[in-house]
Amino acid sequence: MTKLTLKDLDLKGKTVLMRSDFNVPQDDRLNITDDTRIRATLPTIKYILEKEAKKLILISHLGRPDGKVVAKYSLRPVAVRLSELLGMPVKFLNDCIGEEIKRESQSCSEKIVLLENLRFHPEEETNNADFAKQLAALGDVFINDAFGTAHRAHASTEGITHYLRSASGLLLEKEIQYLGTAVENPQHPFMVILGGAKVSDKIRVIDNLLPKCEVILIGGGMSYTFLKAQGKTIGNSKLEKDKIDLAKSILERAKSLKKEIILPVDNVVVETVQSDAKSEIVGENIPEGKIAVDIGPKTVKLFKEKLQSAKTIVWNGPLGIFEMDAFSKGTEEVARFIARLKADTIIGGGDTAAAMAKFKLEDKMTHISTGGGASLEFLEGKVLPGMAALTDK
Ligand code: 3PG
Repeated sequence: MTKLTLKDLDLKGKTVLMRSDFNVPQDDRLNITDDTRIRATLPTIKYILEKEAKKLILISHLGRPDGKVVAKYSLRPVAVRLSELLGMPVKFLNDCIGEEIKRESQSCSEKIVLLENLRFHPEEETNNADFAKQLAALGDVFINDAFGTAHRAHASTEGITHYLRSASGLLLEKEIQYLGTAVENPQHPFMVILGGAKVSDKIRVIDNLLPKCEVILIGGGMSYTFLKAQGKTIGNSKLEKDKIDLAKSILERAKSLKKEIILPVDNVVVETVQSDAKSEIVGENIPEGKIAVDIGPKTVKLFKEKLQSAKTIVWNGPLGIFEMDAFSKGTEEVARFIARLKADTIIGGGDTAAAMAKFKLEDKMTHISTGGGASLEFLEGKVLPGMAALTDK
């Protein structure tokens, strides 16, 4: 990396200020329902402690409170969970800037301090320079380990780097290494699996990866706009009418680049999207009144045949409504299959990561990104501001 990393710094006796992405899902009673993002930053935290930093002050956002204090977006439950995972106390302070916070964070007996949600202040998202300066005043050095938020140019990801020496944490470094290698220097054949609801979400990923990969396999909601572009009938399945021409041009571009785009050849369809709805399997033409909710068995077989020879697989977006058990089969079978391959398997975060967690395949993939929007923008070839702003080596 051309940017400073944690390992380039001498942390002994320093107060380390670290941006993490603790934006974790919670239920109505504010129980954390998935702590992957907290666990993913533990190696960085442990490394900082091992290197005898004086203090570690953690900052993060949670949810989108729009610059106001909203109780349900408090990071307090994260402090509790973090403390359980580390087996040591974590001090929680109920704001993230100001003299009192600075004094308390320094004088408390705990080595690790978590500050309250950055987004309770509107200045965080507007990347206000004064707010960034106030954050910077809390530490001697800044570490960004928040890959999930690296696509945001906010005060705690970009602004702050103007005031402190700034390095990547181990998680941020790992994410960039795995996603970067897959996109820039993949082992071939390189194949990309794309799914999820909308073509419009994935256009730039296709543009960026089509010239670099051999095959793109498309399923999920976005595939029906492609099937429509090929003149197939799609019943009441998800359609982005204004993207049909774009889908056509993507298919033509793939042809001229001699790349394969594989679309579903059969589909699981229902009349209404309900977990107990009666389903049937139809071919690539979906009858009137039917809604496709998953790829069918022939498509699964076809995807497996193609993926068999892949050396690198990047996957972003589920292939059906995997949240409902009845329609998760396509996504699950393809996931189980690639988990066994001798290929680098890189899973874009968000829904695809949630699917891998549901199928308990997290440990079977080479890398599962902790970023949703961030991994998507990375795959689109965009520069992530949180990364670009770090201090050059
Ligand atoms: C995410 O969950 O993708 C990140 O935490 C970023 O959150 P945001 O989309 O609210 O900026």
